[in-house]
Amino acid sequence: MALINENYLKLPGSYLFSEIAKRVEAYKAANPDADIIKLGIGDVTKPLPEAVITSMHKAVDEMADEKTFRGYGPEPGYNFLIEKIIEFDFGTRGVSLDMDEIFVSDGSKSDTANFQEIFGVDNKIAVTDPVYPVYIDSNVMAGRSGTLGADGKWTNLIYMPCTAENGFVPELPIEKADLIYLCFPNNPTGTTISKTELKKWVDYAKANQAIILYDAAYEAYIQEEDVAHSIYEIEGAKEVAIEFRSFSKNAGFTGTRCSYTVVPKEVMGYTAAGEAIDINKLWNRRHATKFNGVPYIIQKGAEAVYSKEGQKQIKALVDYYMFNAKLIREGIQSTGIEVFGGVNAPYIWLKTPKGMDSWSFFDKVLNDVNIVGTPGAGFGPSGEGYFRLTAFASRESTEEAIKRFTTKFKL
Ligand code: MLT
Repeated sequence: MALINENYLKLPGSYLFSEIAKRVEAYKAANPDADIIKLGIGDVTKPLPEAVITSMHKAVDEMADEKTFRGYGPEPGYNFLIEKIIEFDFGTRGVSLDMDEIFVSDGSKSDTANFQEIFGVDNKIAVTDPVYPVYIDSNVMAGRSGTLGADGKWTNLIYMPCTAENGFVPELPIEKADLIYLCFPNNPTGTTISKTELKKWVDYAKANQAIILYDAAYEAYIQEEDVAHSIYEIEGAKEVAIEFRSFSKNAGFTGTRCSYTVVPKEVMGYTAAGEAIDINKLWNRRHATKFNGVPYIIQKGAEAVYSKEGQKQIKALVDYYMFNAKLIREGIQSTGIEVFGGVNAPYIWLKTPKGMDSWSFFDKVLNDVNIVGTPGAGFGPSGEGYFRLTAFASRESTEEAIKRFTTKFKL
């Protein structure tokens, strides 16, 4: 008899974005003529940059020729890409990393979900609330969550509320946390924290022998000074932090799949007997065992992101989406709805008006103006009463959405 991992049975019916897609499909079936604008899932809409496409075409030709064909690549990624990552993403910010501290992968979703595997089941997990659901669901699957309470919280997890009341800045937990998930610029709130605030987390982790799992997938969207692009800009972070980076949101790789994870060799975990173990070695073992590397063609595309043209083209992409963010922020604000985020991130987090709950607001917006957003409650209990809009749609759709909000949407 094949016994299942019963932790899976604890999970809510479907992943948040699948649930939203289901509801939208049902609405479409009932209203086939509705012109629906999707500002829900944070998926990019502009094509891959020219430099990336050119490089990938060349790589395809190499794969067609016996002399340049490649089979399995190195599991952690090709040196040509890792060298560029180290030079451009870290060297320029005064952070030095070794080649074997970078692991190229197929996405920050998979890496943030999988990284917990190398830690014991009894670790205490801390998450910000609201939060990207993958961090929680992957720990539920692993058996670390306890049970889901009526308050929408898992009994064994530490929740750090991020709401308008605390400026969306999490407070250090009172209960001792072993693994801490942080995401800045934040998904879903679209807000971020200063270097001074981030330093408190690094100090906390050092004092508690904890590890920070730092998701920096939206790093390219940072506009303001005093916001760290990498957690390693903070003194001491290389001893306590793992950083996740992605090509999805800066270079349009959501469907192409390429990301990387930084695991400095100073980061230690411990055996029950108290022996310090190099986390880099464990992740390397896990990565090499379960993953055969990102395709050569895709890594060649990612490499081109760092070329002179590539850098210019990804800046133009980010500027494009950030202008959408400004349109949404200002447009929604003009209706009297309170708006947050959208300054250092492509997400706008708004307070649902008149005390309406997130899912009712989702239904109302879909029904009244045919716009899809994401209900804040889907990201955790502290997301209740909020609603997320993404700036990743086309300019035309964004402008049309704002026109509908400002002219047709009535509360
Ligand atoms: C989101 O909408 O929160 C993200 O796009 C999801 C993801 O990147 O996996």
